[in-house]
Amino acid sequence: MAKSTFESPKGTRDILPGEADRQRALVNAFGEVARRAGYGHVMTPMFEDIGVFKRLGDSTDVVTKEMYDFHDKKGRHLALRPELTAAVVRAFVQHRPAIPWKVWYEGPQFRYERPQAGRYRQFSQIGVEALGTDDPAVDAEIIALAWNFYKQLGLQQVTLLLNSLGDPTCRPAYLEALTTYLNENLDGLSEQSQYTLQVNALRVLDSKREEDQAIIDQAPVMVDFLSPETGEHFAGVRRVLDRLDIPYEISPRLVRGLDYYTRTTFEFASTALPGSQNALGGGGRYDALAADLGGPDTPGMGFALGVDRILIACDEEGVFGAPDSLVDVFIIDATGGDEAAVVGAELQAAGIATDRAYDARSMRAQFKVADKSGAPIAIVIGDDELAAGQVQIRTLQGETREQISIARSTLIEELKKRMT
Ligand code: HAM
Repeated sequence: MAKSTFESPKGTRDILPGEADRQRALVNAFGEVARRAGYGHVMTPMFEDIGVFKRLGDSTDVVTKEMYDFHDKKGRHLALRPELTAAVVRAFVQHRPAIPWKVWYEGPQFRYERPQAGRYRQFSQIGVEALGTDDPAVDAEIIALAWNFYKQLGLQQVTLLLNSLGDPTCRPAYLEALTTYLNENLDGLSEQSQYTLQVNALRVLDSKREEDQAIIDQAPVMVDFLSPETGEHFAGVRRVLDRLDIPYEISPRLVRGLDYYTRTTFEFASTALPGSQNALGGGGRYDALAADLGGPDTPGMGFALGVDRILIACDEEGVFGAPDSLVDVFIIDATGGDEAAVVGAELQAAGIATDRAYDARSMRAQFKVADKSGAPIAIVIGDDELAAGQVQIRTLQGETREQISIARSTLIEELKKRMT
């Protein structure tokens, strides 16, 4: 007989309450950090004309292998977004907001990758983009924002890798030197890298194949070819990072997986995670992307961090755990249930999160549910309390357990005292 149950599609997963609440808390914390630095929230569609994402590069896996593309009922060729930078720049070009335009975002991205730990086909990113200035102060501000966010979560084992990929004035000379070098060593390269070399020499540096590593290690590096202006820009970024006490490693072979980058590029690696999933986020400048998408020449800079990966790193480092409980107070109503409804509404209106049991269960059964909920406090309303205009407060967690009866009129005040 045909199987009649379904599971989430390969490479996707259901994130259930608890873990999903933890993810929401992380996104909210990020939104707050971004807002404080002057970034407004932006929301763009989950799908775009596929042309928007073609700009990520003809030789990148994201474009050649991983796009979830489809034709809609009118034959439009669309794609689920594999990342948000191109979509945000498309929105910038469409709406022409005043510059500098500083925005932050969050949401799911879609890449048809080979699923493994920390690598999904639907995954979540948080990120920022700043369009309209190439001031190195913006590069440093953006890198610092991500760095400080990791620190705020409690992550200690994060390394910042920094590079400059040059600009159109200096990159051609570098590409020539790199292409010459790689051609001289063609026989030692993997078949895939030999092919990649024909399309984009820089991409070869991104190869993770074992057999390519010795050749990549000896390859010429972009930082040796930077023009005076680009070198000065890179020095400016480093100077501000130094002033902000943000440690970084210059990683001259860091090229990243997308083709739009110019000048500053960076990645955050977790030393708590294995190599296949240690990239916690990354970004850089993309000074030609707006013009490429039909807009005015507008420099841009940003990053995206992988939410799923960050949470794995948090697990590994034992920080930013799932909340113990979703609620502050569990209401136990032994009078039939209506009191729980009334008190629950009152407390929620006062900003206190509550839960309760249903189906007029016994007091004992309600206490079991209360314990399971993880709520630190229970309030108990029995027939006696109801008649006397009282309510009992009991602590459910922690060393010292309290059990007192108070006037119902003082309940909110008493609970708030215990919640701080
Ligand atoms: P990206 O390096 O492709 O950059 O992705 C950023 C982060 O998203 C990665 O470091 C990783 O943490 C996470 N990530 C990527 N693919 C997956 C996956 N399949 N499963 C789980 N997590 C994943 C970008 O997307 C650029 N838009 C960053 C940027 C913004 N550059 C400039 N502005």
